[in-house]
Amino acid sequence: MSGNLNNKGRNNLLPIARDVIKHAKAGTMRQAKDVMRLPASNYTDNNRFAAELEKVIKRVPIILGPSCEIPNPGDFKTINVAETSLILSRDKSGKANALINVCSHRGACLTKKEKGNSNRFTCPYHGWNFSNSGELIAISSEDDFGKIDKNNYGLKSLPVYESAGLIWAIINPESKVDIPSFLSGYDKMLETFSFSDWIFVSKRTFKGPNWKIAYDGYLEYYHVPVLHRETFGVDATNRGLYYSWGPHQHIKSPAVEKGHIATETLGYLAELIDKSEDEWDLETLTYGVWTVFPTTSIASFDAGGRGVLISQILPGKKVDESITTQYYIMEKPPSDPEAAEEQFDFFQQVVMNEDYATGASSQPGLKEGIIDHVLFGRNEQGNQHFHLWVEKVLNAKNDEDLNSIFLNGAL
Ligand code: FES
Ligand SMILES: [Fe+2]
Repeated sequence: MSGNLNNKGRNNLLPIARDVIKHAKAGTMRQAKDVMRLPASNYTDNNRFAAELEKVIKRVPIILGPSCEIPNPGDFKTINVAETSLILSRDKSGKANALINVCSHRGACLTKKEKGNSNRFTCPYHGWNFSNSGELIAISSEDDFGKIDKNNYGLKSLPVYESAGLIWAIINPESKVDIPSFLSGYDKMLETFSFSDWIFVSKRTFKGPNWKIAYDGYLEYYHVPVLHRETFGVDATNRGLYYSWGPHQHIKSPAVEKGHIATETLGYLAELIDKSEDEWDLETLTYGVWTVFPTTSIASFDAGGRGVLISQILPGKKVDESITTQYYIMEKPPSDPEAAEEQFDFFQQVVMNEDYATGASSQPGLKEGIIDHVLFGRNEQGNQHFHLWVEKVLNAKNDEDLNSIFLNGAL
């Protein structure tokens, strides 16, 4: 990664760091204008859930994984998004492809492998053969089968965008959504990490409650010293400062404690307070939570080396189910791989036993209408921003409408 880019990234992060330190020193934070009220049925209604799948999840770009999960030509993985099985592959030119895992002959699932390396996919039903960029290469017993134009029978291919070491796709082959407009410059901020040079270390997948209930927990720090008192400690911050690029957000903490257990994850910049700006290091400047609308959250950690946990929270089959995949990627291989895995287990347990168990506990009360709306405080700005954007995207009439909403940016 060129020094130029890192300098540029550093320059982008400096104004944020100055703002964080200003608030840390003054003991202040920015607040949203008002307390927000959101109907409880937004989390429980089946029709609403179906609309979110069609108009949000299948309409905006979704991160399918980090580039370093499929670093080499021929590498592929399969992934399910909104009941659609996809193959994410890297072809011989190095380009990432997102292909729908459905054979064009009679619809069989092409591969059930979770990952592998292959330039071709052969359908297990009648043996049709596809390239890893989706072209139909060979029809078995072609003379017997009869003539069709192979060019019209490749695998359905989704719009893909690879930037900042992350791979986005839109779950609609016909989408007209402009991915750079959607990203609103946010990928330029994420480029500061140089994820494209990092390595894939580990991955875990597990169930959670409604996808937005699960995602809400990644959007505020208010709960941290209470819900995570046993793990992050009672003295962890409950304040967050929010910075946004279109629907995407970065959260840092205006805290003054140094060397706190939550330093990397919550984005404490206290170590920089007494240093001159030219001594502010790029790594510390990137600390905190980076949420990529609508399903991804990226948070730093240290596990015998610098790393990030990329959490991808996808809706499950039903309104009250989600599937989370945690991708652990690191700048270099961990110094002690076993200890690193133990730390990843710990992060997974925190999310499952504290965040998701508590999220699940709120579902019956919301479903039964015991409370008819939920509240997001002026200190829960990240959630307010997220839910306003979900509403905006849901209400967009078509892809053109969405593009103009993203181009216009701010709410
Ligand atoms: S369904 Fe794939 S070859 Fe027949
Ligand atoms: Fe949490």
